[in-house]
Amino acid sequence: MSYDIAVMPGDGTGPEVVAEGLKVLEAAAARAGFSYGLTHYDFGGDRYLRTGETLPDSAISELGGHDAIFLGAIGHPDVKPGILELGILLKARFALDLYINLRPVKLFPGVETPIKDKGPKDIDFIVVRENTEGLYASTGGYLKKDTPDEIATQVSVNTRKGVERCIRYAFDYAARADRRGQLTLVGKTNVLTYAWDLWWRAFNEIGDADYPNIKREYAHVDATCMWFVKNPEWFDVIVTDNMFGDIITDLGAMIQGGMGVAAGGNIHPGKTGMFEPIGGSAPKYTGQNVINPLAAIGAVGMMLDYLGQTEAARWVEAGIIHAVGKMKSLGAGQMGMGTDAVGDLVAEFVAKG
Ligand code: IPM
Ligand code: MN
Repeated sequence: MSYDIAVMPGDGTGPEVVAEGLKVLEAAAARAGFSYGLTHYDFGGDRYLRTGETLPDSAISELGGHDAIFLGAIGHPDVKPGILELGILLKARFALDLYINLRPVKLFPGVETPIKDKGPKDIDFIVVRENTEGLYASTGGYLKKDTPDEIATQVSVNTRKGVERCIRYAFDYAARADRRGQLTLVGKTNVLTYAWDLWWRAFNEIGDADYPNIKREYAHVDATCMWFVKNPEWFDVIVTDNMFGDIITDLGAMIQGGMGVAAGGNIHPGKTGMFEPIGGSAPKYTGQNVINPLAAIGAVGMMLDYLGQTEAARWVEAGIIHAVGKMKSLGAGQMGMGTDAVGDLVAEFVAKG
């Protein structure tokens, strides 16, 4: 088996954590007996400042020709907010139609959570975030801009097709042997009555017709934030829209031990998937060998799972748990060892088992 992987290290600490992820990929490949080729792309803030280019259309079709994309981080202190986010990250998600953003929230043994009296058996769920629509669809505009009567609208776009494919993915996920067969729709049916009525109907119609064995639950997004802190064990698989998914997964990352361990995958089943640590580029830590690479390594694990290397994906997770046991803490500069040493620990574990 051979895989063709695009690597986009991006900005800030992105390249450092990507290097550790690639170390682990190499160890996994050697042990599992698959091979891979890497193509590096330098899209990010530096290239934008040099050339004015974010992610050109030609790059999109090239990226879509790979089996997977491994992304570091996008975000540069000298570039106005929005340009790189929209021009690179969101452009890749949209143009490649990566309609699922899959974000596991799993507390590994040995990792500290700020939630009192909760442990790994309580914090183990996964968020299926719709990734191409909602408020992220850039629909809206200004009226009377720069006048006292200025109006700005930002419209949430929810298509039946887009909602349905996301919900189906989530039901399928809840039916997996490694889940508990429960799917919670997270929305705001009590206020946003058009969009969430569509989601609600699609959720129940699809559930009734095709997933009678999956237990359906519903929670408002604000209450969900409360439950994440109060009773995280209540969740198994969550499905929600783009904006709510963005917000609740930052909270999810905190209860699983921080941005240093939170990984995600941008997926369109059967097509190129893009895997990334969900934290930002953390520019102030650049080049200091202090950033935690476990989220990027976790993203490699998710990529392996997506590529069908499920055993190798399990080794990576076991390697992360092994490394956590030796680290002082998971925060940047608080690990008791360098970024590279954390990568070495996981890679050595993955190589030997
Ligand atoms: C994320 C990030 C992005 C998002 C930003 C950087 C555009 O916060 O991946 O969650 O809002 O989706
Ligand atoms: Mn986010």
